[in-house]
Amino acid sequence: MSGISIKTALPGPKAAALIEQDHTYLSTSRYRMYPFVLARGEGCHVEDVDGNVFMDLHAGIAVTSTGHNHPEVNAAIAEQAGKYLHNCGNVFYNDKQGVYAQELAEATPIHNSNKNRVFFCNTGAEAWDGALKLARYATGRPNVICFYNGFHGRTLGGISSNSSKVVQRRGFGPLVPGIHFSYFPRSFPCPSNPPYPTDTAGCLEYLTDVLFKKIVAPDEVAAIALEPIQGEGGYVVPPKEFVQGLRRICDEYGILLIADEVQSGMGRTGKLYAMEHFDVKADIVTTAKGIASGMPIGAFVASDKVMTWPEGAHGSTYGGNPVAVAAARKTLELLQGGLTAHAGEVGAYFLKRLKEIQAKHPALIGDVRGLGLMIGLEFAKVDNGRTVADAAARDAFIKKAFEKGLLTLACGNSTVRFCPPLVITKAEVDVACDIIADVMATL
Ligand SMILES: Cc1ncc(COP(=O)(O)O)c(C=O)c1O
Repeated sequence: MSGISIKTALPGPKAAALIEQDHTYLSTSRYRMYPFVLARGEGCHVEDVDGNVFMDLHAGIAVTSTGHNHPEVNAAIAEQAGKYLHNCGNVFYNDKQGVYAQELAEATPIHNSNKNRVFFCNTGAEAWDGALKLARYATGRPNVICFYNGFHGRTLGGISSNSSKVVQRRGFGPLVPGIHFSYFPRSFPCPSNPPYPTDTAGCLEYLTDVLFKKIVAPDEVAAIALEPIQGEGGYVVPPKEFVQGLRRICDEYGILLIADEVQSGMGRTGKLYAMEHFDVKADIVTTAKGIASGMPIGAFVASDKVMTWPEGAHGSTYGGNPVAVAAARKTLELLQGGLTAHAGEVGAYFLKRLKEIQAKHPALIGDVRGLGLMIGLEFAKVDNGRTVADAAARDAFIKKAFEKGLLTLACGNSTVRFCPPLVITKAEVDVACDIIADVMATL
């Protein structure tokens, strides 16, 4: 697949038929941003069922880290599929799980730990739920502090911890008790002058001086849990001092720090884990998405002093499926063999090019931010003297970019996220940025 090529009206005839079937039979909860129907992929490019080729700048929500159809990942999957597909690694031994557990345990920085342990599951939400359970179990405390705008998945534990969109919680109560919310700093507060803290000091003070003094005693808090870069909530990068402040508070009160690295981890930000940018280690780290290039697997990692729950306390039939583990092992090898550094370098270039585009459209683009290949571009406008989110401009951008062959994805109130496969090259970023600049000029 050599590059973007749009040959039919969108959607083309085959896509239109499949879309009708999809709309007829899939759960009404599914959400579609544009009429792209995937048929095959290669690297950063994807072809639809009518032969149109697009550039994939979302990687299936930050998942296909090594690109579509990576020959080494495919070979690892095929080799394992030719041996056995399943034996329930939670109950029976196999020749893959322990090997990968050691590799992942050794690659994951954990606070005050000489040896880590790993629990394997299938998805990010399961990793999140497991981490919540472990934190409660390990501390004997019931409460957890999460952050506004955070997202942790769609299980009951996940939605009880989410505060990025009310549609994810509405109608599903009662939710899991004991989850409280605090503020996450934003360098681009939109609307301007919001009536809540957006700076590091204000957000930390809210936690210690309001939450801990009026709502929940710190000695009843099991964990403070953050996404090191908020994903679904708008690709928000916190200041280093904020994350370091959370570590200090956790240490002071014997609280565990959970880093939900489901979206920000596995090389996406130019480090294996985004927490490494802040020089902070969490007590429990969750991971999924990019971990296996698209095969479903999740995990959470903690020190062997924290992960001491007894046999049978937690489990999963499919968790650590051997085919997914084969893909995950190869993915980790590729990430450690240069792909993570590549993501950091190309990501910095992408960010620079997007900031140049922002400079030409200051009335449209409020902020461009990110680390590595986890970049958010926030649309904003001035309304009655206030800077406010411009979701209509963001949605128009996504639609027009699609028509020109770029697949992008929304997050937050008015942000477009760019989270392409980590194999994207500077030349491909140039092609994408030329299209992005063209689209901005039409908005
Ligand atoms: C930070 C974070 N945690 C958890 C999840 C849930 O992952 P999954 O959809 O695999 O359950 C997501 C998914 O977007 C996420 O971004």
